[in-house]
Amino acid sequence: MNPSAPWWKNGIIYQVYPRSFQDSNGDGVGDLQGIIQRLDYLAWLGIDAIWISPIMRSPMVDFGYDVSDYYDIDPLFGTLADFDQLVTEAAVRQIKIVIDLVPNHTSDQHPWFVESRASRENPRRAWYMWADAKPDGSPPNNWLAYFGGSAWTWDAMTEQYYLHLFTPEQPDLNYRNPLVVEAMKGVIRFWLGRGVAGIRVDVIDRLLKDLELRDDPPDPSYVEGVSNPQFKYLRVNSEQHPDVYGLIRELRKTFDEFGDRPIIGEIAYTTDVAKMARCYDDMQGMQLPYNFAMLMLPWDAAVLRDFIDRYDAAVPPGGQPNYVFSNHDQPRIATRYGEAQARVVAMLLLTLRGTPTIYYGDELGMPEADISPELFQDPQGINIGITRDGCRTPMQWDMTPNAGFTNGTPWLPTSPDYLTRNVEAQTNDPASMLALYRRLIALRRATPTLLYGSYRSLDTGVADTLVYLRVLGGVRMCVALNLSERMVSLALRDLGSGRIVASTHLDRTEPVDLGALYLRENEGVVIDLGALA
Ligand code: NOJ
Repeated sequence: MNPSAPWWKNGIIYQVYPRSFQDSNGDGVGDLQGIIQRLDYLAWLGIDAIWISPIMRSPMVDFGYDVSDYYDIDPLFGTLADFDQLVTEAAVRQIKIVIDLVPNHTSDQHPWFVESRASRENPRRAWYMWADAKPDGSPPNNWLAYFGGSAWTWDAMTEQYYLHLFTPEQPDLNYRNPLVVEAMKGVIRFWLGRGVAGIRVDVIDRLLKDLELRDDPPDPSYVEGVSNPQFKYLRVNSEQHPDVYGLIRELRKTFDEFGDRPIIGEIAYTTDVAKMARCYDDMQGMQLPYNFAMLMLPWDAAVLRDFIDRYDAAVPPGGQPNYVFSNHDQPRIATRYGEAQARVVAMLLLTLRGTPTIYYGDELGMPEADISPELFQDPQGINIGITRDGCRTPMQWDMTPNAGFTNGTPWLPTSPDYLTRNVEAQTNDPASMLALYRRLIALRRATPTLLYGSYRSLDTGVADTLVYLRVLGGVRMCVALNLSERMVSLALRDLGSGRIVASTHLDRTEPVDLGALYLRENEGVVIDLGALA
């Protein structure tokens, strides 16, 4: 570790979906006291910061992504005192707390919106995005909500439409109104003042919309009856207005009042490295614009290499890259790539140049759960049939009922594989996914070259292999990954010889000649090449 580097350049972020991590009071929903109970596990795992999905007061239409009070903890999760205790207890274990802030929209129950919809003359009217109907009574434009239907809902009492990029219960705030910006700065100050080490900001690049409310143009890749109907149009006017960078710069200044605490930005999913680089905004924008490319690209060594090379090169000097392979909105890694390749994913994530984020349960290889439609909880699943519930099932701690997550009835069913796939069982198994994650985390933490070294990929000439060097001050590490189910052999003569310091398979610590390096099926290795003479 480089003590002078900020934590978010040294560290590993672990995302906790609080409803599903640990329930302490038997109501079937995880809570802050539950997280506190599990801090020792997280310290043992070796992560540096916990990002907790939203815990502020909310009617839970979108499970906390619909806030009705930015200044309080939802009673389901606990109290502000519990939160303070969490920050303190985490700090004792050198773990930072990152909260999730949802500034783009509030709940329709938020007092600001209640006032805003009370009358057209209400002083809070302009805090939200209101617009007149077209002459035929239809919505102002063709913008679509992510979770089904138009992004506009008619308010019969005041006879205008209001905008919501997500459900109608999540009205969008109007960031052209300076009072809204000031209000959100107040929220940021409140939480940073309470000791959070950074804030993950929900849909940060969507805060500003086209001033003239112009239609979104059709997406040429859209196929009627095949594509998700909510992606019929390119969202170029309904979101991602270029003015948003100025707004983020302004919010960043509020963060900077508290020292070096990052904005971890949830930006639109893209593989366009120029767009991703733009988000750093000359180091005055967000510090960690989340890189979701790995959620979009096929698991193909050539494609991945090409992307990583271009992304790594595009991140501006002084900017910190980052990698995300999963989160609470996407199908689980183990299901996307299969369990064997999920181990290769772990090695890639934890050896690339940039801050890794681990989603809870992936360290056990938890698969995407198959939730039957009548049990859907997610509004996206209920409205358009594409549920995110499968990646939100209870954390699997042990083989007691409900995997040790709750004494009550869990809000989502526990995945049936918990009897064998759980923290307790995997802790005692050196071949487990958990043991692998722990080894790789420890290796990363102890190896400055992996933390700070440069990245350069190598052309192996062998299909399905992804090989790269990390170099710091002449000290070289080589990571060689086999993305296939057959054994491969590589001839990387220029690299000489080294010693394997980690393998996705059970530890393999032999000295190797890189001129004749074999990798077993689905195997990745990290090789210490030592210092250049
Ligand atoms: C992105 C979040 O990750 C997702 O879970 C949520 O539904 C939307 N933003 C709306 O806040």
